[in-house]
Amino acid sequence: MCGIVGYAGGKSAAGELFEGLKKLEYRGYDSAGISTLGGGSIFTIKKSGRVEGLAPRMGELEGCVGIGHTRWATHGEANDVNAHPHIYGSFSIVHNGIIENYAELKAELSAEGHVFFSHTDSEVIAHLLDYYYKGNFAEALSLACSRLKGCWAIAALCKQFQGFTVTRHGSPAILGEGEDGFFVASDMYALMGRARSYCILADGDIALVTPRGISIYDGQLQPVARNFSPLEWEEEEVGTGGCPHYMLKEIRQNARTVRATCRAFASSGCGGQCSRLKEADKIVLVGCGTAYNAALAAVRLLGGAYECPVSAHIASEARYDPPRVTQKSVCIAVSQSGETADTIMAAKILKDGGAYLIAVTNVGYSAITRFADKVVPVCAGAEVCVAATKSYIGQLACFHMLAAPCAPRVRCGALMKIADDIERVVSDGVYAANIASLCVKSRAVFFLGRGADVDVAVEGSLKLKEVSYIFSDGYPAGELKHGTLALIDESVLSVVLICDESLCEKSKTAVEQILSRKGKVAVITTLPHIYAELSARVSAAWLLPCAPSHLAHFLSATALQLIAYHAAVMAGRDPDKPRNLAKSVTVE
Ligand code: G6P
Repeated sequence: MCGIVGYAGGKSAAGELFEGLKKLEYRGYDSAGISTLGGGSIFTIKKSGRVEGLAPRMGELEGCVGIGHTRWATHGEANDVNAHPHIYGSFSIVHNGIIENYAELKAELSAEGHVFFSHTDSEVIAHLLDYYYKGNFAEALSLACSRLKGCWAIAALCKQFQGFTVTRHGSPAILGEGEDGFFVASDMYALMGRARSYCILADGDIALVTPRGISIYDGQLQPVARNFSPLEWEEEEVGTGGCPHYMLKEIRQNARTVRATCRAFASSGCGGQCSRLKEADKIVLVGCGTAYNAALAAVRLLGGAYECPVSAHIASEARYDPPRVTQKSVCIAVSQSGETADTIMAAKILKDGGAYLIAVTNVGYSAITRFADKVVPVCAGAEVCVAATKSYIGQLACFHMLAAPCAPRVRCGALMKIADDIERVVSDGVYAANIASLCVKSRAVFFLGRGADVDVAVEGSLKLKEVSYIFSDGYPAGELKHGTLALIDESVLSVVLICDESLCEKSKTAVEQILSRKGKVAVITTLPHIYAELSARVSAAWLLPCAPSHLAHFLSATALQLIAYHAAVMAGRDPDKPRNLAKSVTVE
């Protein structure tokens, strides 16, 4: 949610910052801006729209020190004035997070004669720096932050200081050391290929970053030593790998995500968590968006493996109405980024209530990993497309492993086999494109299933609406006759998932009900006899590799991800950066 970059070194800052912002654009992309410092002056360009929109004015930026920002608007519409950086007096700042008490601070500073230019909460930070600055930049930042309520990562320039300062409270900030300079970024992805080592700034720390190095101070402004770790990354993590979009590249990585996640589960001693689950009086899962949908699948998997009750909760609800937990309960927080504010708050509340906290996350250095009792890693690699794909598949793999207390090796073997089948689904792109073309011609698309297929239907619907903006809904096929049937006509497509032999006759009934109302139907199945029976009667049918019903979701979810991707491209959307959305929602 919003991206921050900063650079101080031997190169021109403008180019470094522009490249960093392009990598961070998936974090928010309704406006962007850069400030640089050269010869005691601050140069700033900022504009609504994508980072690319800054390119024509890059020549205006001088100096080897600077900060940049790409925004996902929370306070104030996405226009040029509200874009970061915000300038006041000798200061330029970029901010991620939310300043909850900005209105009262603004009123206080206005009474002192400060004039505000934007409608953002962030601008108040530049004014506070100006107010408190008495010649010591770190001290002014510390005093300014002591007045803030909410969450923040801040990078700031001051005309009188040849470098920039960074601090954080609840929002991520990562420092990097490279060959040609020093960096800050709100996301490791922006540092890959540029920094050799990194350090996650702690809440309350203040870093002074200059072309000569980085000094870190604690909340009392005393110097502190913080460890830098080598930044290891794989070349293929950066860029679209020859695909037209990250979304397609990332769906193609589903199979390797399953394999890597299974291996990591074994090597990081996660198997021990199964005994913890066995002894639990209840297991509660929390997450948002796709992560919540993965939690729905976990309810079936863990519910089948353990005797205690298992439930999934939308984190933004659970934090205000938390399920009751005891010292014997286990909370599993599911989050690709590990930074989603609602998930973090819900997990903290449940942990405070006594529950043991397991984080299932793709980002090993994220906020949630710092207070979880155990991290179960999803090994999807960097996921850049805003819509989650391979991380969902990796989360499913984690839950399968957590649901196999007795025979982890057997489960791991089954997952390795399903990974091969996922590759087969990915290579069947023509079926996905065919169903996608039906989606883009439809007024609405419904995704239906029974049993475990329902969870995939819900996620498939979310994927389609996120990236193509086509109205869609996912729900149990048995509910069709209790309402949605009223919406079915020839302009509506229903995608029916039939991957469970024991429920297939019931799912066929839903197909008949839709066909008899002249609705269009696409069937996706792992059952050859269903394909044989229905393929000639429906608008499209896709036979996936045969798979046991509890594993079929890896295949049907991959199929629905591909359909959503093709539908977005056919509808002329950018699947990687859907309008109004952001990859990681670090505000509440
Ligand atoms: C945002 C993204 C979704 C994601 C959700 C939860 O809304 O657009 O794709 O599923 O956040 O993110 P998390 O990082 O916690 O899994």
